[in-house]
Amino acid sequence: MNNGDVSQSRRRFLIGATSVVGGVGVIGAAVPFVASWNPSAKAEAAGAPVTVNVDKIEPGQQITVEWRGKPVWIVRRTDEMLANIKKLNDTVKDPESSEASQQPTYIEGIYRSLKPEFAVLVGICTHLGCVPTYRPEVAPADLGPEWLGGFFCPCHGSHYDLAGRVYQSQPAPLNLEVPPYRYDTDAAMTVGLDPEAA
Ligand code: FES
Repeated sequence: MNNGDVSQSRRRFLIGATSVVGGVGVIGAAVPFVASWNPSAKAEAAGAPVTVNVDKIEPGQQITVEWRGKPVWIVRRTDEMLANIKKLNDTVKDPESSEASQQPTYIEGIYRSLKPEFAVLVGICTHLGCVPTYRPEVAPADLGPEWLGGFFCPCHGSHYDLAGRVYQSQPAPLNLEVPPYRYDTDAAMTVGLDPEAA
C-alpha cells in the first residue's frame, strides 16, 4: 500500500470515527448500548476526559471510545490472553515497555496497564497511522499457527500482541501508545486523566 492509500485509510477512519464511539468490535456478539460510554458532543469537541463503565465489558471483548479525536480501545483480557502475552516476551521488540514515549510513567511491565485485566490502548498503528484490527483468536488461518491473539494492521501487516507490543522486524517501530487513564472505581475508568497519585 502506498502513502496515498494510507491517507485514504486514515480519512476513512476519521469519517467513520463517530460510528465507532462506544462501538463493539468483538467476538461476534453485539453488546447493549451503554450511554455512559459516549462522551457528550461538547466534551468530545474539547478533547475532555472520557469516563467508561468497564464492568459492562465482557471477558475477551474490545470496545472503542474516542478521546481527543483518536480511537482508544479497552479490552477485557482473560487469564488465557494474559498467559499468551507472557509467551510472546521473546517475540516482541520492547517487552518491558522501556520506550518512554509510548506510555505514561505509571504504566510498566509486560501487560502495559494499571490492572492486567484491562488493556487501554490508542488504536493507531505506530508505522503510518492506520487503525489495526482486533484479532483475539489463536492461530487463525490467515495469521498462522504462531499467532496468539493481538492486533493486526492491514496497511502493511504489523503485528501487535494483546498488550499492544509490536513484534520484532515489523514496519511499525514502536508499541501502541497507552493513553493516560485512571480507575475512578473498580467499575469505571476515565481516559485522559492520570491516577490521583501519579
Ligand atoms: S500503518 Fe503501516 S503497518 Fe500499520
